[in-house]
Amino acid sequence: MRKQILQLGLALAMGVGCISQAFSQVKPEILVEQRPAGMVMMAKYMYSIVPMAMGRVPYDAATVTRNVGYLEVLSKMPWDGFTPATADVKNTKALPAIYADPAKFKAAQDNFQAELAKLIAATKGGNEAAIKTAIVDANTKGCNGCHNDFRAKQQ
Ligand code: HEC
Repeated sequence: MRKQILQLGLALAMGVGCISQAFSQVKPEILVEQRPAGMVMMAKYMYSIVPMAMGRVPYDAATVTRNVGYLEVLSKMPWDGFTPATADVKNTKALPAIYADPAKFKAAQDNFQAELAKLIAATKGGNEAAIKTAIVDANTKGCNGCHNDFRAKQQ
């Protein structure tokens, strides 16, 4: 069983390698066009549950669970669009720091994924107060934590 899981992990890792290679063939302009689309969809499902977490609109557990499930998938999508080849493309809010310090940018992605993992675990636990805290943390520490360093205020 354990061996099978390890083999599956390896196959997945190799699959991801192929995928990122495939994306490096895509024109940088197209990648830059697609990136905000992923972000906008994350905003759709995150910014509709943040007001619930803050008590501004009634809390709806079913909507929260659904949105967090969508975010789990969406949160994996934008990153392969930030290839070094896109560094010179204009019309983007992506700051040069992304390409100057890729390790820090990767750390911001990992930090976001970690906050989201806590939120996913909280929704499974079903404790409303814990879920609300995790929503706010995923947004402020996860989303904004990266935007503060890597997204321009104006295009
Ligand atoms: C690791 C960094 C990082 C994380 C995490 C991140 N973003 Fe972004 N976000 C960016 C960057 C960089 C841009 C600018 C992208 C571009 O213009 O190509 C951006 C752009 C955006 C935009 C603007 C899209 C537009 O129309 O220009 C929105 C909205 C957004 N992000 C929402 C979110 C939300 C919501 C989350 C969390 C659920 C999130 N982001 C997580 C880095 C991040």
